[in-house]
Amino acid sequence: MAIFGSKNNEIDSEIKVPVSLGVIMDGNGRWAKKRMLPRSAGHRAGAENLKELCRNCGNYGVKYLTVYAFSTENWSRPKDEVDQLMKLFVEFFDRYDSELEQEGIRVRFSGDIASLPDEIRKVCEEGERRSVNRKKMQLIVAFNYGGRRELVNAVKNISAKVKSGELSVDDIDENLISQNMYLPDVPDPDLIIRPSGEKRLSNFLLWESAYSELWTSDCLWPDFGFEELTNAFRDYSKRDRRYGGLSKESNEKGK
Ligand code: IPE
Ligand code: IPE
Ligand code: MG
Repeated sequence: MAIFGSKNNEIDSEIKVPVSLGVIMDGNGRWAKKRMLPRSAGHRAGAENLKELCRNCGNYGVKYLTVYAFSTENWSRPKDEVDQLMKLFVEFFDRYDSELEQEGIRVRFSGDIASLPDEIRKVCEEGERRSVNRKKMQLIVAFNYGGRRELVNAVKNISAKVKSGELSVDDIDENLISQNMYLPDVPDPDLIIRPSGEKRLSNFLLWESAYSELWTSDCLWPDFGFEELTNAFRDYSKRDRRYGGLSKESNEKGK
């Protein structure tokens, strides 16, 4: 059975859809440069495209979509650009929350939210509160996010508990560390997509990506539409996720 995504994009029902998907929304600046536009125009087009991605992922049946919107390292950009990105962030939720609501999309934030300016922190808190009962998909916005900072935060939380005697050193295991990540109930990403031609994680979900499948494309983020998403999912459908073991086929042969 074929169902339809946004703008009548037909969804191929043979495709295996990741439950948890990560997307590094990169390439806005290059997109703008190609069009002789200011970088801010690229960021605006990128934000528009996030709305599209949400709709397409919701229709495909993705349950958790984590998007990298602003890294802990992005503060090193010129102040003007950082200000524009913050402004766009606020605008996005003002403008699109009703559409996200129609799509049944719950919004959550991952990152060092406590260190953000008050206005931005309020947008995060409000957005989470307003959308808490939406069930179709969770959109997790990684904002002021850094994988290393997330790990530092986890180590601090655990150390404080060891110091107070609530935990002992022997209680520390992989599960405990996972439980101390920003959003421990969100499953590790099955697939991470990075458009824009770069082939690196840039500090995205370092702990959670241990066994994520990676997919990269030269397409710049504002142009990354339904077709590219479908290409990524088609490729993901063919991957053999072995987690260090043997493939299903070899296991069966060995029997
Ligand atoms: C991604 O696009 C947006 C953020 C990192 C906030 P870039 O701004 O990094 O775009 P390029 O990589 O310069 O093209
Ligand atoms: C990664 O993109 C961060 C986001 C998309 C938010 P960057 O543009 O910051 O990554 P680098 O600098 O190319 O590694
Ligand atoms: Mg970039």
